[in-house]
Amino acid sequence: MAQGIPDEVLMNTALIKDLADVAKDAALLQGVLMRAQETLVSYAPFTLFPTPVPKAVFLQALAVQTHYNTLVDRISQDSEFLQEALASTIEVDDFTARLFRIHQQILKEGRSQSIVLGLNRSDFMLDQKDGQAASLKQIEINTIAASFGGLSSQTPDLHRLVLKVAGRLEESRRILNNNPAAGLAGGIAKAWELYGSERAVIMFLVEENQRNIFDHRYVENELWKRNIRTIRRRFEDVSKTGTLDDNKNLFVDGQEVAVVYFRNGYMPQNYMSEQSWDTRLLMERSRAVKCPDISTHLAGTKKVQQVLARPGVLERFFPGQPQVVEQIRATFAGLYTLDMGPEGDTTVEMALAEPDKFVLKPQREGGGNNIYGSEICQVLEGMKDSTERMAYILMDKIHPRPVQNYLLRQDAPLKVSNCLSELGVFGAYVRQGKEMVMNECVGHLLRTKSSEHSDGGVAAGVAVLDNPLLI
Ligand SMILES: Nc1ncnc2c1ncn2[C@@H]1O[C@H](COP(=O)(O)OP(=O)(O)OP(=O)(O)O)[C@@H](O)[C@H]1O
Ligand SMILES: [Mg+2]
Repeated sequence: MAQGIPDEVLMNTALIKDLADVAKDAALLQGVLMRAQETLVSYAPFTLFPTPVPKAVFLQALAVQTHYNTLVDRISQDSEFLQEALASTIEVDDFTARLFRIHQQILKEGRSQSIVLGLNRSDFMLDQKDGQAASLKQIEINTIAASFGGLSSQTPDLHRLVLKVAGRLEESRRILNNNPAAGLAGGIAKAWELYGSERAVIMFLVEENQRNIFDHRYVENELWKRNIRTIRRRFEDVSKTGTLDDNKNLFVDGQEVAVVYFRNGYMPQNYMSEQSWDTRLLMERSRAVKCPDISTHLAGTKKVQQVLARPGVLERFFPGQPQVVEQIRATFAGLYTLDMGPEGDTTVEMALAEPDKFVLKPQREGGGNNIYGSEICQVLEGMKDSTERMAYILMDKIHPRPVQNYLLRQDAPLKVSNCLSELGVFGAYVRQGKEMVMNECVGHLLRTKSSEHSDGGVAAGVAVLDNPLLI
């Protein structure tokens, strides 16, 4: 008993304080459930059946992932390369320019943390031109907020059940196990352990409207299983209560943060005010492990992807490793610069002559930003002589073979659709100083959409969750 207060009251006071986050989450969940009837909650959309995927290309995608991890990590350490690769883009693209300024600032001040945690997802489609064998081509690599590791850990059981109900026991046994949530959490846990403070928490930096919260939850739960505390905060929350101590340790609401896991901050709209940008800088400056740090974020831009496809560039990152270079390069589609000059002019001519062969991409994430077909001509005609074009890259359009399936989503009638699929592969790595202490491929994601749509992911309401059935 302290000062006449019974111990059990003191204990409760401590618990209530410690569990403030739990209570907040419970209230949130309660609110969500109450509003469920108003359809504020809907199930994650999925295909009724798994989609056949050739085994050889599936294994090829898994096998190249650890090399992609290494590549992203090496790019992030090569400030000269990033500067050169992004020079034209940052002249005209405000968002990339702002990220780049933070990167420069951190380089000037010196990085305060030698632990690097990378969780990425490399996306592929199968190019299946008539009569030819399927060829695996990378669409892009997401180095920030790569999503659906949580939900795709749940979909194998879903399709197993559907197939059993449909009397297809043999196929149901062939649905692969998949648990990216555990693998991603494994990476976070490793970084947390190396950070070396048992009290410190993992902070999920989340959006204003948390539409994909359940995807995060599976990763959070994997961390709780390991007795690692997680909290969820928005830019605004960190802006209000985030501070750095003399050693640049990051504290939010008085709790030391070991790892900031960005599930937000990848598009301009995520930075709702100048304060959000200040907050990003605060976190970058801190001793917390950032996933991703600013240079790893920049390594995932589409401009970097295009520069990597130029002759000789991969060799810079894998000197004396021609097999690795070959393995990565085999997955590259044609990528073309739109910088000012003769090379960019050729790209413009090529795109205007056969727009259906290409995709025009700005430096954006989140789906729905790419330009296709006749719209490529409209957009390029308007900017072909202006530096504005440097904000884009041009890419060969990949043509997967359509497969029929039912797409189940809350707001759409059930009908058979011609569908195209995209395979994502999750990578997790941790580096401490010069030593890679973890480098793994931690699972996959298959997303499928109706072939009527050129663009758009699950969050954009176009693609749905799926599983590969290896053939
Ligand atoms: N070269 C291509 N050929 C065919 N389709 C493509 C190509 N590039 C992109 N797409 C389609 O457009 C979608 C979005 O493309 P991309 O991944 O480059 O953009 P994003 O905005 O970064 O998307 P995400 O939110 O998935 O990160 C892809 O999921 C794919 O369906
Ligand atoms: Mg992306």
